[in-house]
This record gives sequence, structure tokens and C-alpha cells, in this order.
Amino acid sequence: MIQIENLVKIYKLNKRKMRELKTDSTTKIAVNGVSLTAVPGQIYGLLGPNGAGKTTTLRCVATLLKPTEGKITVCDHDTVKEGEAVRESICFLTNEIKLDEHFTADYLFDFFGKLHGMSEEEIKARKDELFTVFGINDFKTKKIEELSTGMKQKASIAVSLCHDPKVVIFDEPTSGLDIVTARVVLDYLKVLRERGKTIIVSTHIMSEAEKLCDRVGIIINGKKVIEGTIPEILEATHMPDLEDAFFELFKENNPNYEGGVSNEKQ
Ligand SMILES: Nc1ncnc2c1ncn2[C@@H]1O[C@H](COP(=O)(O)OP(=O)(O)O)[C@@H](O)[C@H]1O
Ligand SMILES: [Mg+2]
Repeated sequence: MIQIENLVKIYKLNKRKMRELKTDSTTKIAVNGVSLTAVPGQIYGLLGPNGAGKTTTLRCVATLLKPTEGKITVCDHDTVKEGEAVRESICFLTNEIKLDEHFTADYLFDFFGKLHGMSEEEIKARKDELFTVFGINDFKTKKIEELSTGMKQKASIAVSLCHDPKVVIFDEPTSGLDIVTARVVLDYLKVLRERGKTIIVSTHIMSEAEKLCDRVGIIINGKKVIEGTIPEILEATHMPDLEDAFFELFKENNPNYEGGVSNEKQ
């Protein structure tokens, strides 16, 4: 279980970041009072446009960042006070963390297995399963630097899951993947759901969330603007699908929106 209560995360901005965000302010409120609960046996979808605060939220859950305000527990452990216990129960996949290019998937899987204190038999059994699911056996002895984007992502996912974590935190797991590879990843998330894992996935692809998630929370400009099952969100917004519902909410929360693509200006 993941419980986020009133999460606020404020970044200090350097000059470059101030220019990038087109702001005079020296701080950026990336997450502004987000609360949510993700439970075992369900996939929670954290949705929102670029810059909404998804990655920041997930980094806080994964103990990489300390909340400015608020409290997060993972399997009843506080992410700030009991970071170690939290890290043992999670896996965290994000585009910003990459596998070391100089090693093979085979080597890295063993390395992270040992780091998690797994026995050789355990590592072998897990590797057999995950490498088969993700079709990694064909390229497991190639260096990561030689692999395509899709192969790298599959290797990252397999390695992240080596210790069979109770809680799965995936930040945009299908970004940059072709549809076949994306489908393999999404199907495996469903397998993990069947096994009772607590899963939180961020995405900006609404059709993907619609198919995959038991519950979604949409965040815009750091605030959660709606949460519920897909049918609940369609009913509340009177929209036929999640993408239309999202645009409706996006317009409501960006009064100056005139069809541009960035919400970074505020
Ligand atoms: N390290 C950082 N320093 C300053 N601002 C940041 C940093 N990381 C993210 N931001 C800003 O915080 C906001 C939320 O970013 P992020 O959580 O990455 O959003 P998302 O994952 O939804 O695209 C954005 O405006 C982003 O530019
Ligand atoms: Mg992100």
C-alpha cells in the first residue's frame, strides 16, 4: 500500500531552470497538496501533462526526494524516517535512471540480485522468468550500449523487478517504446496485479491508462484535479473517454490555454 498525504514539493530554481520555466521566481511548486492511496492488487494511474508533477511525486514515494510538506508511507513505513525499509519493498523505474551501458543485462541482473541479498538460486529463477517474459535471452550477453531503446527499457524493467518487490513504481514505463514492446510491459503489469502487488504508474497516454488502471488520479500544475475509477471520471466530466475528460479538466485548470502545448509558463 502507498499512502500519500498532502504532499508538497518545492524545488529551488537555479538561473538556467528559471529561464527554462520562464519565471522570475526562485522556487517552483512542483507538487501542491497531493493525496492518494494505492492498494495491493490494483494499478493506480498517475496522469497528467508534461510538468504536472508526476515524476516528482514518484521520486518522493521512492525516497529519492524528501517532501517539503506532507507524509508518505509505503507498506506502513514512513519514506523519510524509514527510508531503508521502504527501499526494500519497492522497485522504481524512471527515464532518468539508466542501466550502466558498459555491462550486459545478464551481469546487471545478477549484480542487483546480490545487492538485494538474494541467493544464486533465487536470482536464477527470477532471471529465467523475467528474461523469458520480456524476450531478453536473445540479447542478454550484449552490452546495454549495443541495445535498442526498447531492449534497454525491457532490460531496465527486468532488473528493477529482480527482488520481486511488493510495490511497483513505474514512471512512464512505455515512453519511447513501439506498440509491441509497450504491450509486453503493460501485460506484465497486469500479471503483477494478479499477484497482489501495489502498482503505481505514471503516464500521459490516456488510452493506455483507460485500458490498464483500476483507479486514476489526474494532476495538473501540481494539484490533483480528479480521482476515481475510469467510469467515475467519465460520469463526473460527462465525457465519452478519458482523453476528452482530460482535456476538459486541462482547460478548466488552465484558463489561458489557447491550444498551445506547454503549461510551464505559470
Ligand atoms: N530538479 C528540479 N529543479 C527545479 N525544478 C524542477 C526539477 N525537477 C522538476 N522540476 C519542475 O517541476 C515541475 C514538475 O516536474 P515533473 O515532476 O518532472 O513533472 P512530470 O513528471 O509530470 O512531467 C516542472 O515544472 C519541472 O520543470
Ligand atoms: Mg515525468
